[in-house]
Amino acid sequence: MKCLVTGGAGFIGSHLTDALLARGDEVTVIDDLSTGTRENLASALAGGAELIEGDVLDREFIEDAVAGAEPGVIFHLAAQGEVRRSIEQPAFDASVNVVGTINLLEAARVTGVGRFMLASSGGAIYGEGSRLDLPAVESSSLEPLCPYGLSKLAGEQYLLLYRRMYGLSSVALRFANVYGPRQRPKGEAGAVAIFGELLLEGRQPTVFGDGTQTRDFVYIDDVITAVLAATDSGMEGPVNIGSGVETSLLELLEGLSAAGPGDNSFDPVYDPPVEGEVKRISIDPARAESELGWQVTVGLEDGLRRTLAAL
Ligand SMILES: NC(=O)c1ccc[n+]([C@@H]2O[C@H](COP(=O)([O-])OP(=O)(O)OC[C@H]3O[C@@H](n4cnc5c(N)ncnc54)[C@H](O)[C@@H]3O)[C@@H](O)[C@H]2O)c1
Repeated sequence: MKCLVTGGAGFIGSHLTDALLARGDEVTVIDDLSTGTRENLASALAGGAELIEGDVLDREFIEDAVAGAEPGVIFHLAAQGEVRRSIEQPAFDASVNVVGTINLLEAARVTGVGRFMLASSGGAIYGEGSRLDLPAVESSSLEPLCPYGLSKLAGEQYLLLYRRMYGLSSVALRFANVYGPRQRPKGEAGAVAIFGELLLEGRQPTVFGDGTQTRDFVYIDDVITAVLAATDSGMEGPVNIGSGVETSLLELLEGLSAAGPGDNSFDPVYDPPVEGEVKRISIDPARAESELGWQVTVGLEDGLRRTLAAL
């Protein structure tokens, strides 16, 4: 099958591109290389993937690229992905994440693409988990605390609208905190990459807040299995892709320390909490389990060891 992956030079997109090629698909990647790199795609490019450099905000470019690639499926992962940047530059966040998504949906409609997958966020779309019965389910109330969470929610709503208006089949995967090799040690999403790099350099981590804030960590290989299963299925609407387990940042640091090479004392330095970041979150994978037969296969201990080994 022919596939188009936007954001394919990034962390998750490059792993997805590798997996699509491995099962025999033809892959075109669209990426502006703003946070992604050619290096992430080195083996994919050698294996036949095509990279077209460009911006999802350039509507004509996107329409031409989609028409040229004639994909059966669009995997839309290109995004502004940082909570802090979304607070500092909310209009930029909305333009990339909302208008960019609309450009891809329009191109899908015009070209007659059969299926559309959006990378959404289980970590930001529900808002503060303390007010919910965690783990959050897809039908939990959605009250994002930052523009990034809202722009992902708007993207999901556009998918639903395009199904109602044009019958475009789509699925939105609400990823928990994804981690693994190739993740950039930047931005709050990359906690494992940031802390892992500091650990290996023998430096101390900075924790924003008291470290008891919780996140739901899910390993990249499990995420890619979920993306393929959800897109191959006829599933419509949002689906959580996470472990359902809350792990505090302090527990994460302990886990990294234990998975690391030496008896590094990995004690954090504390800074004030960051606006827009939730105190607690975990997301329930029950829908993915029952409808896709998907479940987490790489636990945190194993995943941290694999990630550190790749750093
Ligand atoms: N990593 C996580 O934990 C996580 C969690 C929830 C959702 N997501 C979502 O998954 C997707 C991939 O995230 P990631 O962690 O791989 O991030 P990433 O930054 O590694 O990948 C994003 C890719 O999109 C590209 N890009 C950004 N703006 C673009 C634009 N205007 N035009 C074309 N390309 C553009 C970047 O160059 C990069 O290659 C994003 O949509 C993100 O919001 C990630």
